[in-house]
Amino acid sequence: KIRIKMESLIPVVNKLQDVFATLGRKEDQINLPQIVVVGSQSAGKSSVLENLVGRDFLPRGIGIVTRRPLILQLNHVAQNDEAKRRTPSGGLIKDDWAMFEHTGSKVFEDFALVRKEIEHETERVTGINKGISPMPISLKIFSHRVVSLSLVDLPGITKVPVGDQPSNIEEQIRDMILSYISNPSSIVLAVTPANQDFATSEPMKLARQVDSDGQRTLAVLTKLDLMDQGTDAMDVLMGKVVPVKLGIIGIVNRSQQAINDGKPIQEAIKDEQHFLQKKYPTLASRNGTPYLAKKLNMLLMHHIRNCLPALKARVSIMNAQCQADLIAFGEPVEDKNRTLLQIITRFATAYTSTIDGTSRNIETTELCGGARICY
Ligand code: GDP
Ligand code: NA
Ligand code: MG
Repeated sequence: KIRIKMESLIPVVNKLQDVFATLGRKEDQINLPQIVVVGSQSAGKSSVLENLVGRDFLPRGIGIVTRRPLILQLNHVAQNDEAKRRTPSGGLIKDDWAMFEHTGSKVFEDFALVRKEIEHETERVTGINKGISPMPISLKIFSHRVVSLSLVDLPGITKVPVGDQPSNIEEQIRDMILSYISNPSSIVLAVTPANQDFATSEPMKLARQVDSDGQRTLAVLTKLDLMDQGTDAMDVLMGKVVPVKLGIIGIVNRSQQAINDGKPIQEAIKDEQHFLQKKYPTLASRNGTPYLAKKLNMLLMHHIRNCLPALKARVSIMNAQCQADLIAFGEPVEDKNRTLLQIITRFATAYTSTIDGTSRNIETTELCGGARICY
């Protein structure tokens, strides 16, 4: 049974990323897979991403709202890292902040303004009449609550051109989506609303095109609360309609009314839990936004584990090189890389014992306590 806690992933990943960053080479870094959200228009893609980040900042709504890809880079910054928490004018930033590539050094601390800027920048390139563009908007979010990784929000799959959309809109969006999800190190979140037919889900079809084994596709079933009376998603969630290797996770995002009323994300997540307990008591523990986050964490952990052997080998080579250099200098030999190797080994051991069923949580203090960077 996998019992990796969400909070425990943050310090572990940050420590590993910090340590490997000191090795300098790009190929020695731990780059987490990019998570790409795919689905039809208004399926709830932007809502899912916001819930995962835990902040309101994306334009959401009915019809085509996301009209350019948004590359969202989450960056972990410790709460007490005062050196990094500075505005260009030197002020201290206390909570989360955001920066866009197109606005340079401007710091956004108000996330309502982040949403406005996305809308404004979308309109600048695509006009106001529903046009789309493959030119991405790059947004960085800095927070102590996130793991450093990137997420991509994409325009929804659509069939019929409206407004200023070209006649081949379907093809254009499809190509845009494929250009992101064909990257073998991306994880696809294929979002289908529960009130549509899962068997013919377009995002699942696209995901299958690039990931036929289903190794990196996670199905998300939104709008469980909007199903017709007398119907439920039991069969779909249990994989009886279409099996999905990594799982099908049902969720309830905020309705447009709840968004208009300014309902906070945390409250919406509580409501989601109540809904699941009531309507799907036997499946409640394996669905919902917190479970989706856990599942993603697990996939990220798998990825990191798979990167480790090569990184470990590289550290050993560097270690040998370092020792040879020291001998050549005629100085006493000291194992400079031991700490780094120990960190990797402990991570691998803790990870393995966790998935082996000894149900031991990864102890982050064990991994981070006393860790020293050797370079
Ligand atoms: P996107 O176009 O796929 O990015 O979808 P959005 O996240 O913008 O959501 C489209 C609309 O559907 C918004 O008005 C959301 O409030 C609403 N919505 C999304 N998910 C759910 C859900 O699970 N339940 C309900 N009731 N509404 C949802
Ligand atoms: Na939308
Ligand atoms: Mg959207």
